[in-house]
Amino acid sequence: MGKVVIAIDGYSGCGKSSTAKAVAKALGYTYIDSGAMYRAVTLYFLNEHLSPGNPKDVQRGLEGIDISFQINPDTQKQETYLNGLNVEEEIRTMRVSQSVSEIAAVAEIRQAMVRQQQRLGKKKGVVMDGRDIGSVVFPEAELKVFMTADLETRAGRRQKELMEKGDLVDLEEIKTNLAERDRVDSSRAASPLLKMPDAAEIDTSNLEFEEQVRQIVDLAQKAIQKE
Ligand code: DC
Repeated sequence: MGKVVIAIDGYSGCGKSSTAKAVAKALGYTYIDSGAMYRAVTLYFLNEHLSPGNPKDVQRGLEGIDISFQINPDTQKQETYLNGLNVEEEIRTMRVSQSVSEIAAVAEIRQAMVRQQQRLGKKKGVVMDGRDIGSVVFPEAELKVFMTADLETRAGRRQKELMEKGDLVDLEEIKTNLAERDRVDSSRAASPLLKMPDAAEIDTSNLEFEEQVRQIVDLAQKAIQKE
């Protein structure tokens, strides 16, 4: 049986990453968090005081960035590295969340990230989540999933996630951030978030986590059987 590429796209905070991770684990596939790459770029721009609106800064930023993923041997969780430093925690903060959509709207930055994502998925056997995976990164993916959930549910889940890390953030602030990111991500000129006609849509508002994972694993197994 051949290996396939599974592309999971959707709005901010509908559980794409945790679902994609669980699907990858169930199939013995590699999980790749494309949003973490845009977050790492954002962290670099913030730390270096680079402006995404300035082409020279964008060039400098892209030249200075090396992003990689490594498995933490203690937790077995995948963590994001920026220029050799573990930035997994820092890229999930509100400081980064508030600037990431602006960075992710820059065409040159997207081109560089897409190239790296395509390299990472070349051998197939990957589950990648993001906004443009089924449309731009892997338009030929054997399985495309588009995940949605209502804003209230998404904000509640995100708040819980942040709280577990000791980060207390107001629910309204999270809702505003999610809605604003959805707006910018869906309306940007460079590869906006959109549901591809061949993607299976899964609304997770009223689904248990295990159920949404099971649905995608079932779809994946059907796609794998065709290979
Ligand atoms: O999946 P996430 O919330 O960690 O992604 C962070 C931001 O990165 C999101 O607001 C949009 C952007 N992004 C993107 O434009 N394209 C992707 N493939 C993944 C993320």
